[in-house]
Amino acid sequence: MTIEGDSSDYDLLSAHAEQLAKRFKDKVMLTAEVGVRKGLGSKLIMNYIRPNYSGLHFHVGIDPYGDLIYHHYDKSKKPEKGDYNEDMLMEFKKDFAEEPRFQLYQLTDFSFMEKYYYGCEFYYDNKHYVLNDYALVHIDGPHKTTDVIREAVFFAERSAPGAVFIFDDWKKFDAPVVRSVMQSYGFKFISNGQFKMVMEKDG
Ligand SMILES: C[S@@+](CC[C@H](N)C(=O)[O-])C[C@H]1O[C@@H](n2cnc3c(N)ncnc32)[C@H](O)[C@@H]1O
Repeated sequence: MTIEGDSSDYDLLSAHAEQLAKRFKDKVMLTAEVGVRKGLGSKLIMNYIRPNYSGLHFHVGIDPYGDLIYHHYDKSKKPEKGDYNEDMLMEFKKDFAEEPRFQLYQLTDFSFMEKYYYGCEFYYDNKHYVLNDYALVHIDGPHKTTDVIREAVFFAERSAPGAVFIFDDWKKFDAPVVRSVMQSYGFKFISNGQFKMVMEKDG
């Protein structure tokens, strides 16, 4: 088991997931993480939203792995490789093998947005769901301002009332611009940790 994170403020993610579970009490919830890596963010979202698999929560992870070479930050001088390779993907798959509510889309955000524009499908307990309104999104893929805005807009257009979006590494992108884009979708700023920034949509 190597479910680790590469950031901090995971307590913010857990606390908001727990709160949302109460707010969405008997409703089916859809949550997402962009940039999954070893999976700590996704694991916490699942643990704190519904402690046991209930059929009322589905989670999507979006991450291409594949040792992609890209600009990680606005200030990156050149595209770089991280450690998001096939070995990490294999380890991740083992660690999450027993999470039926989790679907990994091994895709970039671009491809996911194109293919799942109208929602993601889930099958559970004789039911078929096509869900496209996100209650919680952890945005933690590429951290360039343009990438963050692209992802924020896609998910904000598909967000449930009262949704919470958590942005990792907020000091690395233009946070005032991202906040202002989110405000135009009815989100307000809730708090900042050292790394994570929380915004919530009107309920
Ligand atoms: C900072 S790590 C994610 C950390 C993880 N959320 C955690 O809490 O430990 C960034 C991840 O983004 C992924 N990534 C890179 N480009 C991406 C893209 N265009 N769309 C989605 N994910 C991407 C990388 O493969 C990598 O696993």
